Amino acid sequence: MSDFDTIDYFTDQSLVPDPHPYFDHLRSKCPVVREPNYGVLAITGYDEAATVLKDPDTFSSCIAVAGPFPPLPFTPEGDDITAQIIAHRSQMPMFEHMVTMDPPEHTNARSLLNRLLTPSRLKENEDFMWRLADEVLDDFISAGKCEFLSAYAKPFSLLVIADLLGVPQADHEEFRIVLGSPRPGATVGSLDHSDLVGLNPLEWLDDKFVGYLEDRRAAPRDDVLTALATAKYPDGSTPPVLEVARSATFLFAAGQETTTKLLSASLRVLGDHPDIQDTLRHDRSRIPVFVEEALRMDAPVKSQFRLAKKNTTVGDMEVPAGTTLMVCPGAVNRDPKRFEHPHEFDLNRKNVREHIAFGRGVHSCPGGPLARVEGRVSIERILDRMGDIAIDEEKHGPAGDRAYNYEPTFILRGLTELNITFTPQG
Ligand code: HEM
Repeated sequence: MSDFDTIDYFTDQSLVPDPHPYFDHLRSKCPVVREPNYGVLAITGYDEAATVLKDPDTFSSCIAVAGPFPPLPFTPEGDDITAQIIAHRSQMPMFEHMVTMDPPEHTNARSLLNRLLTPSRLKENEDFMWRLADEVLDDFISAGKCEFLSAYAKPFSLLVIADLLGVPQADHEEFRIVLGSPRPGATVGSLDHSDLVGLNPLEWLDDKFVGYLEDRRAAPRDDVLTALATAKYPDGSTPPVLEVARSATFLFAAGQETTTKLLSASLRVLGDHPDIQDTLRHDRSRIPVFVEEALRMDAPVKSQFRLAKKNTTVGDMEVPAGTTLMVCPGAVNRDPKRFEHPHEFDLNRKNVREHIAFGRGVHSCPGGPLARVEGRVSIERILDRMGDIAIDEEKHGPAGDRAYNYEPTFILRGLTELNITFTPQG
């Protein structure tokens, strides 16, 4: 028996730097396999993952975010636990956010986002991104080196969402401070970083957005927040302000960390593979494929969970109602039955867009198109303004013997820091 047969995926830190040997081991046993510590069904096969994610009638998202933690607030009974899930939903983590909802509540919550993610809004948001990329780069580019997450990836991905939601520019600095990406020495009025950091960011965001939305309902203007404030559910009814606020604020939770991880994973590839960097410098049209391959290789969401509502099967495996299932996008994206030589970063991969880094089905990421543009715009401007991007060897060691730290969690996959050097340009 290998250590991988008994290891606790959820707590064992040895799996954090590189979970792929473990994922490969699971898949070699079966693309759907029960891990021994919590009885969770781990899904590492592409077709099996798609089956689960596309069937919200059979698989509930009520445990989408943290899986077996905390344990269910009820003991599953019988062949169909739908009624039990409904009765206990409000005792489950993040029940108020769309990611844990099932249809029809999920359909309503998601419809509010559709008012926001229109083609014209996304176009305006992209225009903002091009300006923002340069503004963020201006803050540190002359130094010739940086810690990329704090200098660029976090503030950039935060302010893109703020702009998408129509947060007034005058409030952007305050958002940076509260959400942990302050400009060095920044203050808001008489407040500084230390006055604001103790706040619970999601509660602060809810309050802030309730304020914006009540203001716009009382006095509509021609702006994005007014469009949000006056959005209706599909049946024509008007949602409570707090529900609209939560749809908005959840975008920060869902979109900032994940995009930060995509951007930092992409920069690591540029630093570690000068040949790829060179290819992109000479042919910018290949940047979108580069971003897709970075998503496939290092899916920022490492585990997403579902709860079987009814007795069912996945692949050849019988799945009783009440079973926790864990889809591992990073593993699925390296299923050799779907992706040839899956562990190689390949700019010529024909089917790269089939990766499931943005999930599948009714919950598939509504921010996917946005994140893709964030990646494209950032890489384009970074290549324009940073020559010879290299990994800082003082911090991460020499090529072939690098040391990178990843966030110690089973939920997300991303670097904790990335130190790079470069030649300032432009
Ligand atoms: C590289 C960046 C991103 C990745 C890898 C990512 C990944 C994902 C995944 C895998 C899901 C599905 C969760 C599930 O089915 O349980 C999801 C949902 C979601 N994402 Fe993203 N995301 C990213 C960026 C964003 C951005 C930029 C936004 C918003 C501006 C966003 C907003 C959301 C929302 C609101 C949901 C919940 C959707 C629902 O439950 O219907 N994401 N994301």
